[in-house]
Amino acid sequence: MSDIKIKETTAEDEQAQPILTHEKSISQKIARGSEAGDILDQQMVMLGIQLVTQLNVLIKTSRIYERTNAALDKPVDTMLTLIKTMAQDQPVTLRLQNDFLFLWDSHLKVNAQQMAVATSIIDALNVWKIGGLTFSLAVESKDLREFAALFVSLDPETKALEDLQKEITARRIVGIELEEQRQLQLRSTHGTARNTSSGTTENKSPEGTGSPDPKAQRKVNAKNGYAKVAGSVGTLTQSARDGGAAVSFKQAKRAIQNIIDLMVDDEAAVLGLTTLRCHDQYTHNHSVNVSLLSIALANRVGYPKVELADLGLAALFHDMGKSTIPMEVLNKPGEFTDEDWVAMRNHPTEGVLSLSKMRGITNLPGRMAAASFEHHMNLDFSGYPKLTVPWTLSLTGRILTIADCYDAMTSSRVYRREPMSPSKVLNMMLSKSGKSFDAVLLKLFVNCVGIIPIGSMVMLETNELAVVLKPAADKTNAERPFVRVIADPQGNPVEHGREIDLTEKNDIGDFCHSIIRLIDNTEYKFDTSRYFT
Ligand SMILES: [Fe+2]
Ligand SMILES: [Fe+2]
Repeated sequence: MSDIKIKETTAEDEQAQPILTHEKSISQKIARGSEAGDILDQQMVMLGIQLVTQLNVLIKTSRIYERTNAALDKPVDTMLTLIKTMAQDQPVTLRLQNDFLFLWDSHLKVNAQQMAVATSIIDALNVWKIGGLTFSLAVESKDLREFAALFVSLDPETKALEDLQKEITARRIVGIELEEQRQLQLRSTHGTARNTSSGTTENKSPEGTGSPDPKAQRKVNAKNGYAKVAGSVGTLTQSARDGGAAVSFKQAKRAIQNIIDLMVDDEAAVLGLTTLRCHDQYTHNHSVNVSLLSIALANRVGYPKVELADLGLAALFHDMGKSTIPMEVLNKPGEFTDEDWVAMRNHPTEGVLSLSKMRGITNLPGRMAAASFEHHMNLDFSGYPKLTVPWTLSLTGRILTIADCYDAMTSSRVYRREPMSPSKVLNMMLSKSGKSFDAVLLKLFVNCVGIIPIGSMVMLETNELAVVLKPAADKTNAERPFVRVIADPQGNPVEHGREIDLTEKNDIGDFCHSIIRLIDNTEYKFDTSRYFT
């Protein structure tokens, strides 16, 4: 049932892993893109992950011990061996971009056990706004020790990266170079990279500009993809109700793949689609939203891109078991009876049965079964179904639990007449971090939707109402997202309102605009989804 085998690994285990080495002469002979080249690249990535692990140990140990202490010997020696192995052709560069770690240009994809280490290094680099860390062959034991001591002793609250760099030079630390974080969105491939350092931008309509706006076009494609995927869920649910005829998942998978391609370009635009809420279509929209949120979270976890579509598909049908619940119960406006609750609590198990009937039991992917079976279990097994045998939750199940809860609570549906505001939901979920939800995954999820999540309504100091379009690019200013003004101080709707980067400062260093309070979306009857289309 579980698609990922979770093995408890301790920090000691990680350190004890053998270090892979390779010959310089061989690496130079192997052609890039060849099978052997791929193996070499994979080996480098594994070394990169070990380097990150040891760097994390070094930083943590330096917080406790002096730089000459023997406790630092092991991480320092291991790092030096790794650097000497890896830096034969060029200095080793670790990069941080959009909260992803890269070794040179290769994304360092980490597994569930390595995630805590990666998150710890990402946080440490973010505090100093470091975008790149380069180690050359010139680096020696004293340099690593001195650098780590500086890194933990200087206060990033009062010192800038420049100060850290100056100290590095003053102390004659060699072989280590720092790079600032880049301000541009580098992941866009269509020439539409937005300069995130520019503050207020006009909301340009794609019509009447003469040339088609590729960003607007991508959003239209994403919206069409959303409709297609919602359509597939509708057809499949109906077919399950009609008796479980064999159906093809191909159309849904193709539509999901389109959405994934768009997400790599513009995650916020795709997440914005999840604010498309339509009352009577709750189940279909919910399924698509859970799929999009799961894909975005899995992408941040470092899921291989080829597996994202499978996860998206599994997420899309996580509530298939609801097809066994009569429509009158699902649409009941009042309280559920005990019997109704029994039916509801059976939907994860019923889902596995429905799905297996559709595809033939031999053909049901484990990830799909896990998505349905585990999505209400909770990390601490406080949910349902209750099991009498020991169980290990799959990564798919843990991702789904977060995406499912977030969307269900923020959506309007029949038996919860008013949706909760996204920030209230996030706060409620954070209060259950480590209990109902996997703490590391929840943290990554918050990075994804922002601490003031996409789609939230806020009031600015001007008394204008605005909607959150995407999280702040700069994580240290997470409470200052990108917003668009949607109503004037008197509450009158504004068409094509200003788009504001709330991290923008004026000449004297004060923020130009600030949020004075969060608005419960139910307080004003605005359909925030239209600001994403
Ligand atoms: Fe469910
Ligand atoms: Fe659900």
